[in-house]
Amino acid sequence: MKTRRGRFLVLEGLDGAGTTTQASRLCSWLAARGRKAHLTAEPSKGPVGTGIRQILSGRLLGTGGAPFDPRALALLFAADRLDHWESEIRPNLEAGVDVVSDRYVLSSLAYQGVTTGDAPWVTAINGRAPAPDLTLFLRVRPAVALRRRYAATAEREIFEVPEFQRRVHRAYGRALGGIVEAGERVVEVAGEQPVDRVAADVARAVEKVLA
Ligand code: TMP
Repeated sequence: MKTRRGRFLVLEGLDGAGTTTQASRLCSWLAARGRKAHLTAEPSKGPVGTGIRQILSGRLLGTGGAPFDPRALALLFAADRLDHWESEIRPNLEAGVDVVSDRYVLSSLAYQGVTTGDAPWVTAINGRAPAPDLTLFLRVRPAVALRRRYAATAEREIFEVPEFQRRVHRAYGRALGGIVEAGERVVEVAGEQPVDRVAADVARAVEKVLA
């Protein structure tokens, strides 16, 4: 008997929107329903993703100690994505396992759309990344998201700056419109609710793609 392909589900939102918490909750919810679920994230744990994490933390700089070039970083995110897809996402889906990813293409469209100032190019370099079955966007106001993030950890990544997060928030809005227009399935969830309520809304949306 042919194994039924798993579902590919993605959590998206600003830093501090709760994507990590909700991705993990969603995996537990899927497992409780007797499904096999695999939790993953981007940047991935692969070689490119590991390098990206070093750049984001400021430990790795560009040549001569200059800030890393935003276009080069956009290409690294896109390269990490294809490697992640081939090595981890696709094999799990084909084995009938649901894959829940904390971030995917939409993050690049929003963040790299801002850092490169060239959203169409960012869309183009991510053109080979297969679409998820469902993207869940956790909508949280930038100031609220950043306050949560600062409360959670003392470590600061290069993107965790108020003005930048506001610009990313607006870019998420534009990018969401684009992927909906392209026929992708996206559900927005009110991310400022208590964690359990957000998890319930996420589960309700996922239930529809499992049917
Ligand atoms: P994280 O905080 O969810 O681990 O993600 C790390 C940072 O990387 C976060 O600020 C969002 C950013 N990011 C991008 O800029 N582009 C991308 O494509 C991805 C996946 C993440």
